[in-house]
Amino acid sequence: MDPVDAEALEAAAECLVRARYAIALTGAGLSVESGIPPFRGPGGLWTKHGEPPMNGFQRFMANPRKAWEERLNPSGPMRELWDALAAARPNPGHDALVELEELGILRALITQNVDNLHRLAGSRRLLEIHGNATLIRCLGCVTRFGRDEIDFSALPPRCPHCEGLLKSDTVSFGEPIPPDVLEGCFEEAARADCMIVAGTSATVYPAAQFPLDVRERGGDLIEVNPYPSELTAVSRYAIQGPAGEVLPRLAALVRERL
Ligand code: APR
Repeated sequence: MDPVDAEALEAAAECLVRARYAIALTGAGLSVESGIPPFRGPGGLWTKHGEPPMNGFQRFMANPRKAWEERLNPSGPMRELWDALAAARPNPGHDALVELEELGILRALITQNVDNLHRLAGSRRLLEIHGNATLIRCLGCVTRFGRDEIDFSALPPRCPHCEGLLKSDTVSFGEPIPPDVLEGCFEEAARADCMIVAGTSATVYPAAQFPLDVRERGGDLIEVNPYPSELTAVSRYAIQGPAGEVLPRLAALVRERL
């Protein structure tokens, strides 16, 4: 017995092919099959350890040297997360989204994940709304650097361009989303008449606003999630199953229709 609703999958594929401008929004659930725990729900990091304080950015600004020492020598839940990220590789769910982009169906991908896996898989029009854990960002000129470009001998490290304060590119709780990425996300969401929403509880804003805006304007939501989320009730197609299994099947059905 196929646990996935094959009829809904066929209809979702038809919806994607007919869409004028389809995009995707992904969350931690996309990377569960790559060995990275989600934050909420079964097996969630916050479920296990409790939600982190919501003032991460203020704490960074209050003592950036201490924050960097913790970032370079993480412990507790953050150690667990960074270790999982370091070992992770893209899974068939990431690859299927690349295929949908290559087929010209998926025009953009907004991810809440900081794990770099969509980039490694080859997604091109990619907006990392919560940043990328492999990058360092200057809070002054907003330039992003690879870790190997930065001198960590003195903490906090300083921007090689403007001497500004450097921070991990990951967006901390309480930190404004960098305007370059946020503008790109709003632009893509405003164009979309169809959105794949995969592996997110849709509880963190502003990312959770995008699918609601698409729905509000009469667009279609295609949810891929083994468990119900905030969006299940407003999704045209809610396909209950793991993204690493459902998305490749969806991409194959789309390819057959082209
Ligand atoms: N395939 C698809 N979805 C899955 C899978 C899977 N294999 N396994 C779990 N899920 C779903 C869960 O049912 C849940 O709805 O993924 C979702 C993960 O939700 P969260 O852990 O809340 O992750 P996310 O929505 O990305 O969180 C948003 O919160 O903590 C912050 O900054 C962090 O970016 C993160 C943001």
